[in-house]
Amino acid sequence: MSGGVVLSNAIASQIGLHAPYGGVVPELATREHLRNLLPMARQALHDAGRTVTQMDAVAATQGPGLPGALLIGLKAGQALAFSLGKPFFGIHHHEAHLYSPWIAAGPPEGGPAKIQPSVSLIVSGGHTLLVEVRGEFQHRVLGSTVDDAAGECFDKVGKLIGLAYPAGPEIDRLAARGNPRAHAFPRPMLHDPGDDFSFSGLKTSVRHFLEKNPAWLDDPARLRDLCASAQAAIVDVLAAKTIRAALRLGAQCVTVSGGVACNSALRRQLAEACQREGLVLRLADKRYATDNAAMIGVLAERKLLAGQPPTSLDADIQPNWAL
Ligand code: KG4
Ligand code: ZN
Repeated sequence: MSGGVVLSNAIASQIGLHAPYGGVVPELATREHLRNLLPMARQALHDAGRTVTQMDAVAATQGPGLPGALLIGLKAGQALAFSLGKPFFGIHHHEAHLYSPWIAAGPPEGGPAKIQPSVSLIVSGGHTLLVEVRGEFQHRVLGSTVDDAAGECFDKVGKLIGLAYPAGPEIDRLAARGNPRAHAFPRPMLHDPGDDFSFSGLKTSVRHFLEKNPAWLDDPARLRDLCASAQAAIVDVLAAKTIRAALRLGAQCVTVSGGVACNSALRRQLAEACQREGLVLRLADKRYATDNAAMIGVLAERKLLAGQPPTSLDADIQPNWAL
């Protein structure tokens, strides 16, 4: 990062490695982090056209996440900062997601704080969070999932219909030519007055539906309808609860990030709703919606420039760090 501009955003994807297991295998992820970290750091510096001694600060994710992977990144970052004599920032993964929608388009004139308060939806394979952002570094969790995350629901529905992990992108693709009203799956907690979500029941109702209608699996057109109908149930809940929270809190802006923010139906539905309600919508660019280093760098640079205290070089990982 330099002055809010991403100079490089190297990503070592492990999807192929974990796909045969139907989810992330912690031990494999840890070993892969160890193998990839230094080559990736060199690659990032090379892409940025900078040397390591030109860095003003170093940052890494401190939590939440898988302990092994966090440990490798955090300790390497702290060691690098120590050897350079530069400040280190241990960043909260979800706080960084709050900043990712601003990376590609850039913040509005005067910074993101100008259109606060905003409501931010973070939707990934591990998390579903609704957050109120009142200003820079000021946020409050409004709600989260009480069971499965939205991305996990996409992946589990995909597994039921025989799609490879992660199934979200393929369901999105199949749903594009399916009928979202072919079957009315439940919209869990849609009318619950709180801001929490629940997705495990939806996965179960897809399973029950397939037990009663196994022929749908063998007909490509019906399979597309099934994908569209299940996706519509997930997206309706995410979009409706996000907009409702924004209106209730008098927010001016809605931001969305996390892997599920790539979903075309979610992007379209939120765009329509925000236009109707006069809300500014910032969807993370697809590159920055899924997990990435740029969002960690963006937040660390803002903390550095704002004079926030750096993180101790002895600080430990926070695998269960609450936002
Ligand atoms: O943020 P992310 O890359 O990784 C973490 O979970 O931390 O999110 C991955 C999740 C997976 O569950 C994947 O199926 C889902 O995001 N996903 C999608 C789409 N692209 C990725 N879900 C629905 N539609 C998509 N287009
Ligand atoms: Zn994430």
